[in-house]
Amino acid sequence: MKILLTGGLGYIGSHTCICLKEAGHDTVVIDNLCNSKISVKDNIEKITGSEIAFYEGDIRDRGFLRDVFQREQRKQKIDAVIHFAGHKAVADSVEEPIDYFENNIAGTIDLLAVMEEENIRNLIFSSSATVYDPKSPVPYKENDPKSPVNPYGETKYIIERMLCSLAASKPSWNIVILRYFNPAGAHKSGLIGEDPGGIPNNLFPYILKAAKGELPALSVFGNDYPTPDGTGVRDYIHVSDLAEGHMAALKTMLTGRGEENPTVYNLGTGRGYSVLEIIEAFEKTNNVKVPYMIAARRAGDIAWSFASTEKAKKELHWETTRGIYDMCRDIWRFGQEDLV
Ligand SMILES: NC(=O)c1ccc[n+]([C@@H]2O[C@H](COP(=O)([O-])OP(=O)(O)OC[C@H]3O[C@@H](n4cnc5c(N)ncnc54)[C@H](O)[C@@H]3O)[C@@H](O)[C@H]2O)c1
Repeated sequence: MKILLTGGLGYIGSHTCICLKEAGHDTVVIDNLCNSKISVKDNIEKITGSEIAFYEGDIRDRGFLRDVFQREQRKQKIDAVIHFAGHKAVADSVEEPIDYFENNIAGTIDLLAVMEEENIRNLIFSSSATVYDPKSPVPYKENDPKSPVNPYGETKYIIERMLCSLAASKPSWNIVILRYFNPAGAHKSGLIGEDPGGIPNNLFPYILKAAKGELPALSVFGNDYPTPDGTGVRDYIHVSDLAEGHMAALKTMLTGRGEENPTVYNLGTGRGYSVLEIIEAFEKTNNVKVPYMIAARRAGDIAWSFASTEKAKKELHWETTRGIYDMCRDIWRFGQEDLV
């Protein structure tokens, strides 16, 4: 198959691109490099031993998108699009909500419009566990109530609603929505991983920088939550398991799906770890110290979040195979490459 990935040089897109290439599919990558580097393309090619078609540009530029789709379709039909491109930092979205509306929502509308023009209607969309109502009991099931608590989560939920309306009006669209929990770890080669500039928003890159001495200490936000050790519990999923989840979703979408359209799946492990458990696992796995300090709770944070994985297991025949130690080991190896 030939699959187009928007945001394909980003953290999750690059790992998915590797999986697709390793399974023998053709990939076309679009990225404006606003949160990734061109060296990721070289590293994907090094890992897979084959070239990827890459177009640098913005999904909000319909002329650019049209040109890429037409050029690539002349060679071979594009079977599906996986839409990763977007901004993802919760705190930034509170500071600059309009940027988030513009890039995530308007960008998706532009993509959908050009896909419709070009008769490509198979779409996988990257959504997030942040759409769930934090008052719902864990584990979150796909049908649980939604009530995002920040602009980033709002953009994901609004896009989900748009995709539901689109599929209802135009059933020739074939849409899968994947709600990721907390992606972590890096590719086993150590060549690609999450590469945030400045102070990271996510726990693992933050731990990595603290362990390497690039940041003085990790701030643990709150130790008085109703969890066993008082720190927040999250469902961390190895990014390579997540990438494989996309392969499973693609297969189900293009071969044997049920009536539901869009179909929504949680991609998580179904098990939560607290911040202190992760610090301990990281220290043990890599034989390093992670300096940390307890800080005040962050507005909008919740005590528990983890996925119900039953639907993905049953319908996608997919489940995670890597654990917390793999995540700790692989991100440390990536950190040693001095890319972070
Ligand atoms: N990483 C997470 O914790 C997480 C969790 C849930 C959902 N998601 C979603 O998954 C998707 C991928 O996340 P990621 O962690 O790989 O993020 P990322 O920032 O590493 O990757 C996104 C990529 O999209 C590109 N991009 C952004 N806006 C663009 C635009 N307008 N045009 C073209 N390219 C653009 C960026 O340069 C980047 O390479 C995002 O939509 C994100 O919201 C991520």
